[in-house]
Amino acid sequence: MRAGIVLFLLTGIYNYIVVAIPKHRGDGFYHALMGIKILLAFGVFFLAEALVGRSKAFEGLRQARKTWLLVLVVLAFAIVAISSLLRVRTWPPG
Ligand code: HEM
Repeated sequence: MRAGIVLFLLTGIYNYIVVAIPKHRGDGFYHALMGIKILLAFGVFFLAEALVGRSKAFEGLRQARKTWLLVLVVLAFAIVAISSLLRVRTWPPG
């Protein structure tokens, strides 16, 4: 779980800074959606860790695991949808 999260973070940050930013200069819509996607990913990482971890602080969250797992899955779908949209969108437009 942790190694997967670290890999997502490292590859994602590298991909964004080195590949995506230079390709999308001036494209505010792209960066806004990418920012939302990255924040949603943090939500997924948090929920995944909290659900499988043993920390007392997140016991309440584990008590309602059905709800939070559903939230995690919905977030993950939204992330993939946003990522796909960003991939196929052309810039500059036209
Ligand atoms: C739950 C975690 C994540 C999932 C499921 C996910 C999923 C995806 C998917 C499906 C793509 C499109 C791949 C393609 O077809 O080319 C993508 C692209 C990308 N992701 Fe993620 N991602 C995650 C986390 C992150 C994080 C944390 C970052 C940055 C900090 C990031 C940055 C990027 C960037 C820069 C792209 C390229 C978008 C483009 O084509 O313009 N991702 N991601």
